[in-house]
Amino acid sequence: MKPRISQLLQQSPGSEIVVAEGWVRTKRESKTVCFFELNDGSTLKGLQVVVDVETFGQPELLLRITTGAAIACTGKLVSSIGGNQEVELKADSIELFGEAPVDTYPLQKKRHTLEYLREIAHLRARTNTIGAVTRVRNVLSFAIHEFFQQKGFMYVHTPIISASDAEGAGEQFTVTTLDLANVPKTKNGSVDFSKDFFGKQTKLTVSGQLEGETYALAMKNIYTFGPTFRAENSNTKRHLAEFWMIEPEMAFCNLEENMAVAEEFLKFLFKRVLQRCDEDMRFFSQWVEKGVQDVLLKVIETPFVHMTYTDALVELEKANATFDYPVHWGSDLQTEHERFLTEQVCNGPVIVTDYPKEIKAFYMKLNDDDKTVRAMDVLVPRLGEIIGGSERESRLDVLERRMRALALNPEDYWWFLDLRRFGSAPHAGFGLGFERVVQYVTGMQNIRDVIPYPRAVKQADF
Ligand code: 4AD
Ligand code: MG
Repeated sequence: MKPRISQLLQQSPGSEIVVAEGWVRTKRESKTVCFFELNDGSTLKGLQVVVDVETFGQPELLLRITTGAAIACTGKLVSSIGGNQEVELKADSIELFGEAPVDTYPLQKKRHTLEYLREIAHLRARTNTIGAVTRVRNVLSFAIHEFFQQKGFMYVHTPIISASDAEGAGEQFTVTTLDLANVPKTKNGSVDFSKDFFGKQTKLTVSGQLEGETYALAMKNIYTFGPTFRAENSNTKRHLAEFWMIEPEMAFCNLEENMAVAEEFLKFLFKRVLQRCDEDMRFFSQWVEKGVQDVLLKVIETPFVHMTYTDALVELEKANATFDYPVHWGSDLQTEHERFLTEQVCNGPVIVTDYPKEIKAFYMKLNDDDKTVRAMDVLVPRLGEIIGGSERESRLDVLERRMRALALNPEDYWWFLDLRRFGSAPHAGFGLGFERVVQYVTGMQNIRDVIPYPRAVKQADF
């Protein structure tokens, strides 16, 4: 393998001949020299390539090499006089693979808006911002496995096509091979899914949790990390219809231990990004979210605030007048409330626990007050909810009662209930929205810019 540009930038000047491959970001020229900045995605900063126009002797080739062109440059690394970098490549020969004509290439040297870049998402990874997001996303993915593997958690692959609604919220996409122009019907007029591919109605999963629980009650500690799908009609800067989620599930674990793992996990991820993406994080700190590096450093050092929903409500009711959606005990928290708690009350991440049962999923452990459940949401400034989790209801009778109260049929969840019939144990877990954590560490405003190809309401291009 030929070295990446990140590796070449680490080398000292020398007499060895090297090859640098990549895409031209910028070109500057005078009568005697021509400079290209070459980028191959390995770093924010590219390698400066210098061509001595006279000795190079192919003026028509240099003319065809413009922003966006794919080239391979051969030559020696020399000390750079410019000051911006230690070394630059003095090219003796250049091979041009693909031109990018100036009048049609959509990514010219100037700054483009993120909205515009979304329309050319197939090319946007060639920009500084999306390139940096891509590297941070990559480092975070690896760090997620690193964290759980170090702790002996098993990575479990839960299904993407599912016959049950893991959140009981009815926000799923149906998966079908039925002919939509000629849908088979049962006698009572509903769709006859027995004729469908799986012989029953199936959906894209909203969460791997239920299947994750079955494995936790055998392997003790597991995690999933995969795509999830939600047909929520929320056109916001923090919702996607297809997003990735990390869901650890731990047997013999209560809410307190669950919260401790969530906090340690987030801090581990922030630390890894600061360590391994220093150049990109400096870029985000300067251009995207002022000082985000320092904010993360402070978060790593400070214990998360804990607060019950009921206590949070006291804080929110004091400020009710300033909200679009005023709250009262029992109402779900909107982003504005979550942000108020983190930004105004706690000045950092906060874990809110013990929410009213009516606004949380059926599987959460009921408290003795019969009003609240052992839920925990981790909220962060700028975004609000980043993690949602709970201790699970491990008592069969209580769980069945909760399901009925929420109009769910326990028979549909027979295998999930079997966990409470056979070898039931206290257990807990949570889900971290992957794109939300990428947004949080980079400071990117819109979730659609931290996933390569966003799927959202009325958006599924590419
Ligand atoms: O709070 P949620 O719905 O929890 C669950 O799905 C549980 N089954 C998790 C568990 O306990 N194993 O979702 C978890 C997280 C949220 O906190 C949020 O970060 C993210 O997933 N999330 C979304 N991210 C992007 N777009 C959406 N539409 C999201 N919905 C949830
Ligand atoms: Mg939630």
